[in-house]
Amino acid sequence: MADRQDSGEESRSEEGLRVKISSAEFVISAAQLDGMPRTGMPEVAVIGRSNVGKSSLINALLRRKNLARTSSAPGKTQTINFFAVNNAFYLVDLPGLGYAKVPKKQRAIWKTLITGYIGTRDQLAVVVHLIDSRREPGELDLEVTRIAREAGCGYIVALTKFDKLKQGERLPARKRIARALASAGLEPPIVATSAVKSSGIQELWSWIETLA
Ligand code: GTP
Ligand code: MG
Repeated sequence: MADRQDSGEESRSEEGLRVKISSAEFVISAAQLDGMPRTGMPEVAVIGRSNVGKSSLINALLRRKNLARTSSAPGKTQTINFFAVNNAFYLVDLPGLGYAKVPKKQRAIWKTLITGYIGTRDQLAVVVHLIDSRREPGELDLEVTRIAREAGCGYIVALTKFDKLKQGERLPARKRIARALASAGLEPPIVATSAVKSSGIQELWSWIETLA
């Protein structure tokens, strides 16, 4: 069973989606690169540190509560999960990168899977890189950006758990993360999101459409 959102709030939204979700379904879970779909449909992958909110954001994007399994304990998503959207593209949920409490060997396996996926997947159209709005982008984050850049696909940063910041903390957090990315030579679009409040979802879809 998926845990509840850790603020205890129900997911809700007043936003209208410009991208209409007429169908969203789980298709396949791949533990290895050769277990991935062979349909050639374009893919939008959600990537980031363990527990950053990847699976929750996928549910918010698809307006489903538990389509992607979430948990307050890091290391929940252990395989690459493909969700077909409108029978037109896949939204792809990946395991998280680096979390001290996940055994080192397991972390290494996931990292190889993730970097292999981004580095070799021809149909990968957009990487949505999630960064916790309360944290500094770390070494792993900068590595993700480097791999995505080398893969030559669309790249966008989504700040997660924005609802956890007080009003006065929001702009400074955004600027701080933008500065850290800029100092690594990156100026990607940055969208502040909350899966709990369903905020930033429409803006994120717009960017995904633009970049895809
Ligand atoms: P792994 O699969 O373990 O790598 O984690 P993940 O990145 O998929 O994170 P997941 O979506 O499972 O969420 C981790 C925890 O953060 C859960 O307890 C979520 O309820 C919580 N969470 C995710 N997004 C938000 C958000 O926008 N706001 C708040 N307050 N909590 C969130
Ligand atoms: Mg997950």
